[in-house]
Amino acid sequence: MCGIVGYIGKQQAAEIILEGLEKLEYRGYDSAGMAVYDGEKVNIAKAMGRLQVLKEVTHGGATVPGHLGIGHTRWATHGEPSDVNAHPHTNKNGTIAVVHNGIIENYISLKKKLKNKGYTFKSETDTEVIPQLLDYYYNGNPLETISKVIQRIEGSYSLGIIFADHPDEIYAARKSSPLIVAKNDEGCFIASDATALLRYTRNVYYIGEEEIAVLKADDVHFYDSDAEEIEKPVTEIKWDANAAEKGGYEYFMLKEIYEEPKTVRDTLNPRIRDNKVVIDELNMTDDEIKAIGKIHIVACGSAYHTGVTARYVLEGMARIPVEVDIASEFRYRDPLLDPSDLVIVISQSGETADTKAAVEEAHRKGCQVLAIVNVVGSSIAREADKVMYTWAGPEISVATTKAYSAQLIALYLIALKFASARGTISDDQLASYIHDLRKLPQQIELLLGEKEKIQKFANRYTAAKDVFFIGRGIDYAISLEGSLKLKEISYVHSEAYAAGELKHGTISLIEEGTLVVALVTQKDLYDKTISNIREVKARGAFVMAVTNVDNPDIEKVADYSVYIPETDQFFTNSLAVIPLQLFGYYVSLGKGFDVDHPRNLAKSVTVE
Ligand code: AGP
Repeated sequence: MCGIVGYIGKQQAAEIILEGLEKLEYRGYDSAGMAVYDGEKVNIAKAMGRLQVLKEVTHGGATVPGHLGIGHTRWATHGEPSDVNAHPHTNKNGTIAVVHNGIIENYISLKKKLKNKGYTFKSETDTEVIPQLLDYYYNGNPLETISKVIQRIEGSYSLGIIFADHPDEIYAARKSSPLIVAKNDEGCFIASDATALLRYTRNVYYIGEEEIAVLKADDVHFYDSDAEEIEKPVTEIKWDANAAEKGGYEYFMLKEIYEEPKTVRDTLNPRIRDNKVVIDELNMTDDEIKAIGKIHIVACGSAYHTGVTARYVLEGMARIPVEVDIASEFRYRDPLLDPSDLVIVISQSGETADTKAAVEEAHRKGCQVLAIVNVVGSSIAREADKVMYTWAGPEISVATTKAYSAQLIALYLIALKFASARGTISDDQLASYIHDLRKLPQQIELLLGEKEKIQKFANRYTAAKDVFFIGRGIDYAISLEGSLKLKEISYVHSEAYAAGELKHGTISLIEEGTLVVALVTQKDLYDKTISNIREVKARGAFVMAVTNVDNPDIEKVADYSVYIPETDQFFTNSLAVIPLQLFGYYVSLGKGFDVDHPRNLAKSVTVE
């Protein structure tokens, strides 16, 4: 995620901003910038690339003198990494400067309205609507204006704002994106992450949802969204710098698991408008969608597993034939591709060599490529014909969690879009699917609330030698991911099997005490999977079942059950994967491994 640092006080703001942003570098970013008020006007400095470039351009901040400023490291979501897309963004006269973390979901309609009023835009970002809206509503009172603007923007934001005609104040506001305020004898600070402030103070204020903070050099005041003043307690941060980087979590993996509700919201909400799925990036007419002969999904690792899920969802909803390929196999089997086929590649990093090669193979055979990618401007994003970004933010842990969940959402949206265009689902069905999708973030939060239960269970299995994950249909796809999560970070051998396939060989490996994780979320297949559970139990297996909340009968066969909340059968993967990610995490933690950096693995596999 992007980083924000702001300062007002006795010191030079630029130096403090650069120092603070340096502490946020671990979060990943592609450009940096700052706005500093010099006593007369707001000066902006921006640079694509490392923070070092911004430091060099500004001579360590010396070229932007002043005691009031805001700074930002950007991780691109809307618009490629570039100087012009880097923050801060300003209004036309450069009198209002804004840095922003998060996603403004209704930026397209706001931009349209502002353009109709004569506003022009320089960048491709969602953020630029904020200074322009502030400009539009500005009545000389920044607090009132911010209060008005935050009631008009939808999505997530943490904001640092300066107004040239209020040179003694920094303004901050947030919703669904972190931002803290701190104060010491030298001045007041804002930051998106405590890590940036630890060297100055450990006493911070947490800005609440849709609240606004006004910082002066020696004082800070807080307001609710209606600009009514509120009191805030000071909180002392007790974490060390290392823990602070991870927001207090022991490992990035757990932090990223906890970010999944937000990731799902960010990837989903901007693409639902008036109860319809709107994927602007797809840029395909209904006739073009109807003309697709077949879909080929190609990816590696966890991204491949989301493709396996998507096959069931796309075929089930949109009735289009789908083939799913492991990218390292795809080009060597000389796949039969027709120019009427659509190739969908999926990649968090956008740099995976085999997935990149799949794009080339598809192009060689005359197919259009749609890439579902997390890193804006990455190689795959550049080479594909169309890109649908997952808005998961930077993922640091090698074991993917939040990007996986975001990929599932992107694929569900494509399936819904294609199904409505092809008339294979009715408007009522679409509304019901959207209703269930919108509930997912909250349901994931519920599952996260039960993490201790999984931790306890995982602690019993730290010495396990072999674990099997079984399921049918979409449950098989979830099994693939559950198994990979466990083995890659805990080094426990595990395999995923289509439950019905067990008796064709693998069942001979089941012995007394072998852990079998059974995924049982597909109602039509309950009985079939339960028969498979009985088969492994008869051979001594200990069975943990992950099933729907309305299936308590599972307890008659399983030894231990985890329930997921009610959702449509197509979407169960998004919920069932949470206990499996937690299980992998806690087994690894229990074994004392470095969860975020498993041996022999890299975050992005850029070689064949
Ligand atoms: C999963 O936890 C892995 N880190 C790995 O399987 C990963 O999903 C795979 O290498 C694909 O990476 P990509 O999404 O960046 O292309």
